[in-house]
Amino acid sequence: MLDQVRDTLNRIKSPEGQGLVDAGYVQGLTEDKGLIRLVLEAPADRANALPPLKSAVEQALQAMDGVSGTQIITTTQTTTKPAPQSSAAPERRQPTDANLPRPARHVLGVASGKGGVGKSTTAYNLAVAMAQDGLRVGILDADIYGPSVPVLSGLGAEAKPDLDDQKRMIPLKAHGLELMSIGFLVPQDSATVWRGPMVQNALFQLYGSTLWGGGSGLDVLIVDLPPGTGDIQLSLAQQSALDSAIIVTTPQDLSMIDALKGVSMLEKVGTRILGVVENMSGFLCSNCGTIHNIFGQGAAEKLKIAKNIEFLGEIPLTLEVREGADSGNPIVQQGGEKEGSAQYLQLKDIIRQKISI
Ligand SMILES: Nc1ncnc2c1ncn2[C@@H]1O[C@H](COP(=O)(O)OP(=O)(O)OP(=O)(O)O)[C@@H](O)[C@H]1O
Ligand SMILES: [Mg+2]
Repeated sequence: MLDQVRDTLNRIKSPEGQGLVDAGYVQGLTEDKGLIRLVLEAPADRANALPPLKSAVEQALQAMDGVSGTQIITTTQTTTKPAPQSSAAPERRQPTDANLPRPARHVLGVASGKGGVGKSTTAYNLAVAMAQDGLRVGILDADIYGPSVPVLSGLGAEAKPDLDDQKRMIPLKAHGLELMSIGFLVPQDSATVWRGPMVQNALFQLYGSTLWGGGSGLDVLIVDLPPGTGDIQLSLAQQSALDSAIIVTTPQDLSMIDALKGVSMLEKVGTRILGVVENMSGFLCSNCGTIHNIFGQGAAEKLKIAKNIEFLGEIPLTLEVREGADSGNPIVQQGGEKEGSAQYLQLKDIIRQKISI
């Protein structure tokens, strides 16, 4: 089947006049029960050719016997870097709309091994802190099954992105940030029945076909990843959608082990791990002003020893952080003197230094 598909694709000519497969435009071709998936990759200076090529490829494939559907991601090659020579380095691709730049100068993932450790809260407060520095910052809520950005931003799930005249999505705005979330696009209960490929497609549309920064890209895009080490993380990382990532963990040993799993998956596909943030690191009691280490201490320190991963900082468990997150009024927005704010600001400084932005 794949040989026939290649023959069909080769009958379509690249802008250079060669068959698409021979010219190297077709990457990652797979077939699964008649569903053909491929990445159509053009040199950066041929980006304009991608939309008509994509239509031609879709038409040709759909006319084939045995083809039940197609999923085509278009990308352009980077011109700044030579193609990786070593087989150890994963191939770098950019799953963006051919007419748009990468979403941001730096795309930072916020990951964790398990759910509920405070990834979304950390991602959001970090983003607000960066925006307060004058950076152009966006958040992509990649947690298709449990989006948080509609709540964290206070916009609610009824908010909808506007479209430009080419039907590209204009991100929503709150707290000085640009925001995109599947939660703004579809009712929660319908996303939960989506299968893997639909989720990935939707996510790549949010990532690469959104008018981030009015169409000229942002300084930093923070991607709030779903918990765990599933297909979404893997495909984002494999497509080089993420430049780097931080791992959020809580002090319990168990979540440290989960965090380790997250780290090794990301490392395998070549995403740079900046380090670990320990969230809910002790309960800061507003009555007595002291920190109670309810969950034990030092998970991040152990992580550093076990995997040589850097410890980026700890955020205390406070009522204000939780109330701020759940009411669309992030703690960092409430001023630097609030409990929890100072730690997010410190974390922001460390990360900015690491990513040189
Ligand atoms: N430092 C903190 N102090 C107090 N509450 C916190 C803190 N960090 C997060 N929370 C609260 O913990 C809950 C879970 O946080 P959050 O939604 O950010 O976690 P998550 O890792 O993104 O979860 P999920 O895996 O469901 O996406 C939220 O109610 C949030 O307000
Ligand atoms: Mg979350």
